[in-house]
Amino acid sequence: MLGNVLVTKPVFPEMMEFLNSQVSIDANLEDRVLSKQELISRLQAKQGAVTLLTDIIDREVLESIPDVRMICNIAVGFNNVDIANASRLGILVTNTPGVLTETTADFAWTLLMSAARRIVEGDSFARSGQWKAWGLQMLLGNDVFGKTLGIVGFGRIGQAVARRAMGFSMKIQYYDSLPVPPESVPPGVREVSLETLLSTSDFVSLHVPLLPETTHLLNDKTFALMKSNCVVVNTARGPVVDEKALARALKSGKIAAAGLDVFEREPEIEPELMKLQNIVLAPHMASASRETRLKMCMMAAENLVAGLRGERPPNLVNPEALGNRRH
Ligand code: DGY
Repeated sequence: MLGNVLVTKPVFPEMMEFLNSQVSIDANLEDRVLSKQELISRLQAKQGAVTLLTDIIDREVLESIPDVRMICNIAVGFNNVDIANASRLGILVTNTPGVLTETTADFAWTLLMSAARRIVEGDSFARSGQWKAWGLQMLLGNDVFGKTLGIVGFGRIGQAVARRAMGFSMKIQYYDSLPVPPESVPPGVREVSLETLLSTSDFVSLHVPLLPETTHLLNDKTFALMKSNCVVVNTARGPVVDEKALARALKSGKIAAAGLDVFEREPEIEPELMKLQNIVLAPHMASASRETRLKMCMMAAENLVAGLRGERPPNLVNPEALGNRRH
């Protein structure tokens, strides 16, 4: 066996089967997030951890788990782990990029279409018994076809969202703070400043990681730049949007609608947003297809096994930790 490993929440049986053949597992079989104290105590004498984005692996946790060599997040995002301190302590952290790109892009589009065409309101109305006749002006939404889509963050998922937009003959523009290789930018897609993107797009879809510089990227000031017909979609991380400012923008008609999969204080949702009709709310489920979630699990397991074997794990997010890697 390669070591002792904590799996912090129930995962797919296929993953457990694979891990069981390689490591000794302590699995939390309850569908609840372990507290910080539970995490620390169950990570004693463990060499690895398979974590979810709901496990907060902060400095205190990291400094209390002297034997842990690998933290393998089942997510592409890793803002739940204090990377700087993990690196300082020689703990390797991995994520699951690539396998959820298309599924997440599909879902960004699901939210975009649902918010633009008011499908949730339509569903409630259809079930309510209040629908008496076809109405010329009933539940009017916004066209998607031919409109301008602004993508903030043009990495893998942003690019996958853009590919889908081509089928809707949209004008596509993106903003990214980092240079995007020209071969990743399809013909006709143009790079613009954030201000231009926000002030000229009919749809704005967010695909940036959560960093200090992306926190509250959308706020009162940036909402003020947007068109009144604009629909905002967030499948990135909740704190990228100031939810109170979003509620104000939606309520006042500063923007038309929004579709959110992620929230500032999950699983809490800003009460002002809950009161509104022109927003579609989803419980952080953009990557939730069986195929994709299984791939994410298997990828995390492969990262773990490679790391515990002393190899460089394929999806290492903190290569700077290799220098003082724990053995
Ligand atoms: C991630 O992977 O970071 C998503 O938020 C969940 O799939």
